[in-house]
Amino acid sequence: MKIKKMMFTFGFVFVQLMIMATADCSPKLDNAVVEDLLTMLVKYKGPEFRNTRKWRDIPAFTASLLNEKNINAKEIVKFDKVWTNNGNHYDPNTGIFIAPREGLYHVSTTVMSVSGKTVYAHIWQNETRTVGLFPGTGYSEATANIVLLLKKGDKITVRGSGNHPYLYSSSNHYSMFSAYLIA
Ligand SMILES: *[C@@H]1O[C@H](CO)[C@@H](O)[C@H](O)[C@H]1NC(C)=O
Repeated sequence: MKIKKMMFTFGFVFVQLMIMATADCSPKLDNAVVEDLLTMLVKYKGPEFRNTRKWRDIPAFTASLLNEKNINAKEIVKFDKVWTNNGNHYDPNTGIFIAPREGLYHVSTTVMSVSGKTVYAHIWQNETRTVGLFPGTGYSEATANIVLLLKKGDKITVRGSGNHPYLYSSSNHYSMFSAYLIA
């Protein structure tokens, strides 16, 4: 609203100066006035536009798993190596990301199965199971991506889905979990 008001004021002054410049019938002055006004507009709009999305305000995290782990049905995977945790909305001790505000979020996870074994998992929104992952046997990876409209306080997790608990990872960070606000 503030920007709109400012732009309106600029527009009004612009039109008034244009009328004055035209009345003067001097093309040189006309050009000079237009140039000055354009410079003012660009100067005004520049920093304002850059500041509309400060990276510090965007909830975003990526975490990976340092060691292989057997995951039971509904057991939350605690991705323990944190790479990015803008705003600290992901807790590596619980494996839960809590949306700090309503919005569209991109959520993704990659899981790898243990050699000769299988792993089965899903991304959860609160107590609702969303997209699933079921890579093949042994050192196979699956990735799931989902865009979710989250409410403030919604909890996002990756959990085991039962019968296939063999989740592999290592210091190569094969299994990971990530989410960030799109808008
Ligand atoms: C998810 O759980 C949180 C915390 O328990 C709650 O505040 C929120 O309303 C729930 N969201 C939905 C969509 O049920």
